[in-house]
Amino acid sequence: MKILVINGPNLNLLGVREPGIYGSRGFEDYLTELKSKFPQVEIDYFQSNHEGSIIDKIHEVGFSIDGIVLNAGAYTHTSLAIADAISAVKTPVIEVHISNVHKREEFRHHSFLSPVCVGVICGFGLDSYRLGVEALIDMNKQK
Ligand code: DQA
Repeated sequence: MKILVINGPNLNLLGVREPGIYGSRGFEDYLTELKSKFPQVEIDYFQSNHEGSIIDKIHEVGFSIDGIVLNAGAYTHTSLAIADAISAVKTPVIEVHISNVHKREEFRHHSFLSPVCVGVICGFGLDSYRLGVEALIDMNKQK
């Protein structure tokens, strides 16, 4: 089984960026732990601060791999283009957020991506990614 984790804008600064909200752990460090939890799954990682690069990556892998765990950062709330990319491909996408966006500012309550994703996980810190991977593994078993 092959899964890609995609992180969008500003998530390269995890560990440094607003630690009160996003925690003090860098993503690369967390990724090592995530991979070791699921030795049976190939977990790749892609991060970009650019909307078009995220779309290109979804197109590139979206007809071949088993699942995408996507934290699109602020593009979640703005990007019809990423939503269209998710709709265009075959691979199921799980939307994740580190913070509980519904507890935060009103502008974070709307997601362009939720209607085209399989499901949404938010508010569990970095553990949101693990929950996303688990959901994809369960879905894959039922195929
Ligand atoms: C986020 C929530 C978004 O509203 C924000 O713009 C982010 C991170 C999260 O993981 O909690 O960049 O997606």
